[in-house]
Amino acid sequence: MADRLTALPYTPDMVDEVRHFDFGVEAYHREIADWLVNGVSEAMSYGTKVWLYGNPSGDIVGFGSLGESNWSYPDKKSPRVKVAIIPALGLRREFWRCPKDAEQGQRYSSQILDHLIALAPQLPSRPSALGLYVYPANVWAIRLYERHHFQRFHTRARRDETGDFYHGYVRDIS
Ligand SMILES: CC(C)(COP(=O)(O)OP(=O)(O)OC[C@H]1O[C@@H](n2cnc3c(N)ncnc32)[C@H](O)[C@@H]1OP(=O)(O)O)[C@@H](O)C(=O)NCCC(=O)NCCS
Repeated sequence: MADRLTALPYTPDMVDEVRHFDFGVEAYHREIADWLVNGVSEAMSYGTKVWLYGNPSGDIVGFGSLGESNWSYPDKKSPRVKVAIIPALGLRREFWRCPKDAEQGQRYSSQILDHLIALAPQLPSRPSALGLYVYPANVWAIRLYERHHFQRFHTRARRDETGDFYHGYVRDIS
């Protein structure tokens, strides 16, 4: 049986515990670290919930978040409806692909995503879909999401600083 993670609700006053976390070296990794330290308070003021995940050895291995947004769903021409979104999610680099002896579905990455997928339908708007944005070069994240039945969606998000586009992914949670 793989190490089970425990979810701990995060509050912004815990920032000193997460400031040193390393989520990888690429720009699209560093922005996840930046979100957790600098973006989280604003997101939480709009209702986003954030959890840290601890393993049985007492290490905080990563975090996940859940919020709501308005997307044209289920397709481009649909009216905008509330969907659940994962604004940011990350595993500290030293815990990528861990536990090493775990089956794919028991990896920390899957446990975090399963936790968010299970809670998403309980958000205030009782959404029937869960969406997220991912940078197209972040292939390992995309593999994780596709493994959990997320599919490419028509939405895109543009990052003002770089002009880069992030691709929307979505899955049904009804
Ligand atoms: C995205 C993230 C959570 C995935 O964590 P992880 O522990 O690598 O996840 P997994 O072990 O489930 O790996 C996902 C897939 O990528 C593959 N992969 C991961 N690291 C790899 C490596 N170094 N070499 C080759 N393949 C790799 C895995 O084999 C797996 O593929 P599979 O589904 O075919 O088995 C982690 O990379 C992370 O936190 N990155 C930084 C923050 C980030 O990018 N967040 C996502 C923002 S949208």
